[in-house]
Amino acid sequence: MTVRIGLLGFGTIGSSVYALIEKEHDAILEATGVDLRVGKILEIDLSKAGVAAPAELFTSDFESIMADPQIGIVVELIGGIDWAFRYVEESLRRGKNVVTANKQLLANKGAALFQLAKDEGRQIRFEASVGGAIPVIKVMRESMIAADLHTVYGIVNGTTNYILTAMYRGEGDYLDTLARAQQLGYAEADPTADVAGHDAAAKMAILASIAYHSRVTMADVAREGIEKITAGDVQYAKDLGYVIKLIGAARLIDGRVNVRVHPTLVPAAHPLASINGSYNAVYLRGHAIDEIMLTGPGAGGIPTASAVVSDIVSIASTKTAGFLQNCSCYKVLDFLPDDEVVSTFFIRVRVEDRAGVLARIASAFGEHDVSIESMLQKNRGTTPSWCSSPTPREREASSRLSTRSPACRW
Ligand code: HSE
Repeated sequence: MTVRIGLLGFGTIGSSVYALIEKEHDAILEATGVDLRVGKILEIDLSKAGVAAPAELFTSDFESIMADPQIGIVVELIGGIDWAFRYVEESLRRGKNVVTANKQLLANKGAALFQLAKDEGRQIRFEASVGGAIPVIKVMRESMIAADLHTVYGIVNGTTNYILTAMYRGEGDYLDTLARAQQLGYAEADPTADVAGHDAAAKMAILASIAYHSRVTMADVAREGIEKITAGDVQYAKDLGYVIKLIGAARLIDGRVNVRVHPTLVPAAHPLASINGSYNAVYLRGHAIDEIMLTGPGAGGIPTASAVVSDIVSIASTKTAGFLQNCSCYKVLDFLPDDEVVSTFFIRVRVEDRAGVLARIASAFGEHDVSIESMLQKNRGTTPSWCSSPTPREREASSRLSTRSPACRW
């Protein structure tokens, strides 16, 4: 089945969606039966026409997309609230389904738009609005339906996580690391939406609404940003065994919802403490699931586009077998033999305490082109044991030595 989309906006995400649809067209067709095409691209800057997509797809006339009966899905990637609201509202009224990455739109105007979609019998999908490439919306709406969630903690802003990670690593104070984030393109020239927590608050409003099946808007989220955090705060927290993160917390406490975004001391052993740089993570707790954490790139053109395209195919799939096809095994791939797999290994060796033993181990590895990344020596026993059979725990711990042809195969 051919599905044509109308793409609103051809910025970083819009152009990435176009590129990904082109690149993955055949794979999507094989896996789901959906022949996905971009029908029109709405873009006011027509100098983009013909550069990364054919010029004939571009229009500055929204009505031409509405009037095209072949376009069944509108993909809103222009951002902001006012125009986005008008376009999404009109699309739903004119019988189109909608995919959007616009967290501000949903966190402020979601109630009206979802009601309209329901009245019109249309879908709004918004996987890319939270967590970029991380499939958190789908997991929370579908896989967690019986999880009885009571806690959602999120690192849902990559810019602030990049800055706090750099401060934790001693790379400078807040203003230094913000400036570096801006140079590298992680932070906007005006970083307020990110550093003051507005972006994270919008995302947490969306996640809380899904987790607890009760509408949470931006106005319901208490918010504090990271602007006042100093390198000293970060260092003191580190000394005490904590990492400072901008955490969004949405909790259900005795039947009432509380949603907040603020800098938080996270114990260094908590899974969220290890989410570094611009990565995002969402940590869920529920009575039926104990804990689950999802993590991945929270922003960027192609990662966000992957979430947008999956939403488009999900909508299209409601008219075909789509993702419900029994198997999407449309390829027959060869297997890579185990002894050709390049990997890192953790190897524990017990040896007699004799002069020269360590040197002989190192030279044996060197002779087999095995590079040692790090080595720890502890005086715990004297029985020699070269590459002995591993325990299940040792088998898991393949993380220390970098090898091209592992000396010890477990
Ligand atoms: N500005 C956001 C961030 C990405 O830094 O995570 C888009 O939501």
